[in-house]
Amino acid sequence: MHSFEYRNGTLFCEDVDLAQLAQEVGTPTYVYSAATVLDHYRRLDAALAEVPHLICYAVKANSNIGLLSLLAGEHAGFDIVSGGELFRVRKAGGNPAQCTFAGVGKTEGEIAEALRQGILAFNVESEAELARINAVAATLGVRAPISVRVNPDVDAHTHKYVSTGKSENKFGIAFDRVLAVYAAAAQMSHIAIRGVQMHIGSQITQAGPFAEAVDKMLPLVNALKELYGIAYFSIGGGMGIIYDTSLASGASDWWETNASGGRLTLETYAAAVVPKLKPLGIKIVVEPGRFLVGNAGVLLTRLQYIKTTAAKKFAIVDAGMNDLIRPALYQSFHEIVPVVERPGSPEKVDVVGPVCESGDFFAQDRALPPLAEGDLLAVMSAGAYGATMSSNYNSRALPAEILVSGDRAATIRARQGPEDLVRGESLPQW
Ligand code: LLP
Repeated sequence: MHSFEYRNGTLFCEDVDLAQLAQEVGTPTYVYSAATVLDHYRRLDAALAEVPHLICYAVKANSNIGLLSLLAGEHAGFDIVSGGELFRVRKAGGNPAQCTFAGVGKTEGEIAEALRQGILAFNVESEAELARINAVAATLGVRAPISVRVNPDVDAHTHKYVSTGKSENKFGIAFDRVLAVYAAAAQMSHIAIRGVQMHIGSQITQAGPFAEAVDKMLPLVNALKELYGIAYFSIGGGMGIIYDTSLASGASDWWETNASGGRLTLETYAAAVVPKLKPLGIKIVVEPGRFLVGNAGVLLTRLQYIKTTAAKKFAIVDAGMNDLIRPALYQSFHEIVPVVERPGSPEKVDVVGPVCESGDFFAQDRALPPLAEGDLLAVMSAGAYGATMSSNYNSRALPAEILVSGDRAATIRARQGPEDLVRGESLPQW
């Protein structure tokens, strides 16, 4: 489910009128629905009920501590990729003992801090990293809990920038090397083998690749259970969401509605993997990011100018690629709707930002109702990889972030001001 709907012609997030909110806090602004995040989390939890499991939310999708605190309140685990994310999880009240630490380039400092905080495990991405973790653990006089990230060489059928489980990707350890790496790990004085992990990519919209990857992993997981008594198998994240509701059959339930042709839903996902995982008899870890927060957020932006050229009509808005880079970087589709419904027949328009790059667009040749200066638009499905990938490019202040729960709206990140843009910078003193 998601909690953005029109009431009397105005878009609401739960019980908050977004037109009114934008008046109060300005634009651009990210708005998140707490109810949607919690609903997605609880339903995933229920769908996995038949296996012992831990949901480790992939913090990179949206790392605002206000949002993390919602999941910490549900006793979720967290999948982190940096010392910075671990710091955020702790700030939000999350439990480090339920944190898995992924990423191909962990530094010594990050490894040491994660060990001091007592994380669940490192997902080891290379033999060099394993040696480094062992060395850092030795200096601290502890044993480092590890899983090896296996690259199962499965095609996730997703955008090439977010496909991670093919042999040509930089992630994980090749299938045929994995047992040798575990054997080496078992010999290391300061390593404790805890589990095994895989992740094949992101925005995967079919159940097939997940099933294929699990099938491929099962003999290995059984062998590792036998050899080292591993306690868990992490099947990664990557579950896709519906960005384009015109592809979905029912209108209101974007995340779950099933378009034709076996698209991914919570049910098809669970049905594809749970029966295969159950006989393992060990804990299953999942690392969803987008699935939990993607459709829980929108980016509110106000239309600055209409510009008509010989070739095109442009709606120039006050949000840019620095606020939401997904269309520019991955050619991603985001639905765009007027916050106050507008009558009139749709016309094709490019919705673009103010940044000095032709890649700074949210939609091209999109049929939208006739728009005018001052109109408020909502860029939908912006809860994942929106704010976290934003930057100060063009010296644009980062947008505000608001968390809604019922009729309450909390500022979970204040809009930046000019001083924030130069914080930490200084004039040379020579
Ligand atoms: N686990 C690992 C090891 C990952 O690398 C990722 C995402 C996840 C879990 C969570 O994946 P999710 O459930 O969110 O698909 N910026 C891109 C997505 C990058 C995903 C990177 N890894 C986008 O905006 O589409």
